[in-house]
This record gives sequence, C-alpha cells and structure tokens, in this order.
Amino acid sequence: MRSYGIWLVGACGGVSTTLACGLSALQREAIPPSGLVSSSPIFDGVQLPPLKSLVLGGHEIRDESLVSAARQIARDNGSLSIELLETVQDDLEQIDGRIEPGVLFNSGPAISGLEGLHDQVNFTDPRLALERILVDLNRFKEENRLDEVVVVFVASTEPAPEPHPAHEVSSKLEEHLAAGDGTPFLASTLYAMAAARLGCPFLNFTPSPGALLPAIAQLLEEAAVPFMGSDGKTGETLVKSALAPMFKYRNLKILSWQGYNLLGDRDGEILAHEANRSTKVASKDQLLRDYLGYPLHSKVTIDYVPSLGDNKTAWDFIHFEGFLGHRMSLQFTWQGCDSILAAPLVIDLARMLLLAKLRQESGPQPHLSLFFKSPFGGDEHDLHRQFHLLGDYLASARDAS
Ligand SMILES: NC(=O)c1ccc[n+]([C@@H]2O[C@H](COP(=O)([O-])OP(=O)(O)OC[C@H]3O[C@@H](n4cnc5c(N)ncnc54)[C@H](O)[C@@H]3O)[C@@H](O)[C@H]2O)c1
Repeated sequence: MRSYGIWLVGACGGVSTTLACGLSALQREAIPPSGLVSSSPIFDGVQLPPLKSLVLGGHEIRDESLVSAARQIARDNGSLSIELLETVQDDLEQIDGRIEPGVLFNSGPAISGLEGLHDQVNFTDPRLALERILVDLNRFKEENRLDEVVVVFVASTEPAPEPHPAHEVSSKLEEHLAAGDGTPFLASTLYAMAAARLGCPFLNFTPSPGALLPAIAQLLEEAAVPFMGSDGKTGETLVKSALAPMFKYRNLKILSWQGYNLLGDRDGEILAHEANRSTKVASKDQLLRDYLGYPLHSKVTIDYVPSLGDNKTAWDFIHFEGFLGHRMSLQFTWQGCDSILAAPLVIDLARMLLLAKLRQESGPQPHLSLFFKSPFGGDEHDLHRQFHLLGDYLASARDAS
C-alpha cells in the first residue's frame, strides 16, 4: 500500500494534538468519521489517500510531547477522553519519535516568549534554518518510505512581517537567502520554502501572512506543487459566510456586523498580543466587505479568557435594513471547541492536497475555498457557492478515475 506523510508545523499544539489522537482512533476504527468533510457522501467514488495510509510527523519549538499535550487537553478541556487516550497512546508515542525541534525566526515576542522552548530552535542565518527543515523533512520521507508528504503550517499565529521588496518576487527572496540576510524571512516563510524545495504540497491553516507571501506562492508554482490557505474557517466566520448570502439573496442591507470572540488556551494567549491578533482580526473581518461589495460598519474583537480553554464563544450582532428602511437585527452565539472543529479539516485538506499532487495539479486550489477564512487568490466567500465549487471539482476527479 502507498503511504503519505502529513508534516505538522506546530506538532504539539491544540489542533495537531487533537488531529493526532483523532487520526489514530480513525485508523483503528475506534470512532466514526464525524466532522470529516472527506467522509461525507460528496466524496463517494473519489480516490483520496486512505486514512490508514497517512503517517504523521512534524516540527515543534516547545520541548513537549504529544502524549503529555493530549493528557493536558484531556485534563483541562475534556475534549479528548481518557478512554481515547488509552486507545491511541502507542501511536502517539510513535509519532513523538518523528517530531523534531522547529525553527524560530523573526517570530515576535509572543511566540519567542512561550514557556518551555527547546534550546535548538533559535536561528539568525536563514540558510541554516532552512537546511534544518529540509534535513528533517527528507529524513521523514525516507525513513517512512512515503510516496508524498504534505507540509501543514498549523503553528502559532505570527505577526505580519515588515514589508520588504523581496516579498513580491521569488528570485529576490532567493537572493536574500543566498546572502544570509534574514530580514525578509519569518519562520513560516522558511517552512513554505522548504515545501517548495522538496516538491511537497503546502497548506497554511493559519492567518500568518509570512507563509504565503506573493514570492512564496511563486516559488510553490515554480515547483509545480498544489498549495492553499489561509486560516481555517471553523467557527464564527463559517457562520458568517453562511448567513451573509442569506441577507444578499433577500436584498436585506446589512448596516453593521459586530462580532465578539472570547477564547482561552495557548492560541488565545498568543492572540492577546496586538501584533499577532491584528493578522487574525484582518482575516476574520475581510469576508463581509469582499462579499457584500458595499460599505458597512463591522468590527471583530478577540479577548483572551483563560478559563475557557479551547471552548470558544462568539457573539455576533447583525443590524440590517428591510422594506421601507425599517431596521431589524439578528444575533447568534456560537460555542465551539476550536480544535475539535479544526483538526478534521486539516485531515480533509491534507488528503485533498495529496490528491491534487497525485493528479499532477499545481498552484492554488480554489475548490478548497470552503475551508478558509481568506481563500488564497479567491474572491468567493459565499459558503453555498464554495460548496458547489468543491462538488464540481470532485465530479471531475471522479470522472477521471
Ligand atoms: N479552530 C481553530 O483552532 C483554528 C482555526 C483557524 C486557524 N487556526 C490557527 O491554527 C494555529 C494553531 O492553533 P492551535 O489552537 O493549535 O494553537 P496552539 O497554540 O495550541 O499551537 C500552536 C503550536 O505551534 C508551536 N509553534 C509556534 N511557532 C512555531 C514554529 N515556528 N515552529 C514550530 N512550532 C511552532 C507552538 O509551540 C504550539 O505548540 C493558530 O495559528 C490558529 O490561529 C486555528
């Protein structure tokens, strides 16, 4: 049987740990595939890499293991049960053997200040940082005899990089790398460059702009690999992209859309820093303006509430105008467990990018817009139309097989 690797950057974070536990339980047929879009009927007859063919590895900057990260989630959050941890313990130990110290590079004070960092993660020369990533990825591929590897950036949200001319053109970025000038690079940029170097599909599940700079997209295109991002659409923005079309279809004019997000956990702690939060807020706020095409008052706020753990609460207030200019409102409260919502999507996206690579497709994958807050290069934000895009792609993949 062919085997495929998923390389998780941020391997012991909440999303990755939940993914590792869930994938192991799925491979052991210990749980049903709830929440996996790729197990729903629209995928019938599509030759996706089977769940049992997937092998996990990754990079992590903290001196942490999946086993202890999973125990902590079970204790603090309850989204992973003790029974589940007993079922998957052996698999987690094996994956822990394939997790390597990651790379910190211009990552900003919030990430560099995380507790328990490995002592081998600090780099000042981007060539050495990239070399480390390439060595680890190559070893993962060879030792596990993998046919393909998809690189998934699911690490903490980075601040936006300082604008730099090399961000626009791949050859300029390569020149700065060759000269050992680290100024234009963030850690995410280097991970994406490594994917391009090795011909691996690349997924940016985070809002971090450094991962899919225009120059990086060019490099990935030149390497003829499929890629997609940015920022998984799992909660408030998912509901937004389902509801905004309803107002548009019925010609109800949205005047204001105000959203308050409360979240705890490490992700919330990082987003408590203004520089990191602003990349997330921009990603969450962009959809309405792009989709509605008229000005409105909108604001997204994110507050860190430690006791919530991974259980996020979003309250949205939508003020709209109907016939005779009469004003009305809709409110919703979303209470979701972030990693439980995100982890299956990462599995779906990894399988889809591997499928695209096997079909010799390359470049951005607009049929995956459904999964993102800021779909790369895409101006389609209507959830219903995004679902049709995916359906059309799957029909063509089914016909070709
Ligand atoms: N619903 C969701 O959970 C959701 C949705 C969309 C996007 N995201 C994004 O996914 C990312 C991960 O979310 P999470 O809840 O797992 O966060 P987390 O803080 O639990 O995990 C992030 C992990 O990345 C590690 N890390 C940071 N920088 C690194 C680097 N340079 N190299 C290797 N590892 C590094 C951290 O040590 C941590 O273990 C965040 O950027 C988040 O905004 C999450």
